[in-house]
Amino acid sequence: MTDAATTDTAAPAIERTLVLVKPDGVRRGLSGEVLRRIEAKGYTLVAAELKQATPELLAAHYAEHEGKPFYGPLVEFMLSGPTLAVVAEGQGVITGFRSLAGATNPTEAAPGTIRGDLGRDWGLKVQQNLVHGSDSPESAAREIGLWFPHV
Ligand code: RTP
Ligand code: MG
Repeated sequence: MTDAATTDTAAPAIERTLVLVKPDGVRRGLSGEVLRRIEAKGYTLVAAELKQATPELLAAHYAEHEGKPFYGPLVEFMLSGPTLAVVAEGQGVITGFRSLAGATNPTEAAPGTIRGDLGRDWGLKVQQNLVHGSDSPESAAREIGLWFPHV
């Protein structure tokens, strides 16, 4: 007889995602609030480190956006102060954290989300929207490797 637990639909795999509290979030003292929301949702913190990003790290991290109008301002913004880099873990955490973060544009981000509750449009060349979250398993693996080469 086969064990039902092994023949039923497979349990979702445990995922990891890269979360960044961007320089605006660190500057505004909201790092703890972001970590609180990740933990309150039930995800586990695997790594957390306050880092000053370098142009090389950002060129790799944001390679997909090179050539877009906001690319230069985005890199300049990300160099403007320390970033809290976090690896969070749990089933569905990649999509789950993107839901916690809310829409890219903080004006449109729903209340209840990090960007909706804590962010706004400051009239700058790039949206300062507090957090980054990996958008796919492939991005998560790539980005965790960039920010945490030892994890
Ligand atoms: P993230 O990568 O930071 O999690 O954000 P996202 O997926 O929601 O947005 P994405 O399209 O990947 O853009 C990366 C970051 O660039 C800035 N951005 N500003 N029109 C604008 O002013 C604009 N568009 C993008 C934001 O900081 C965005 O999070
Ligand atoms: Mg993105």
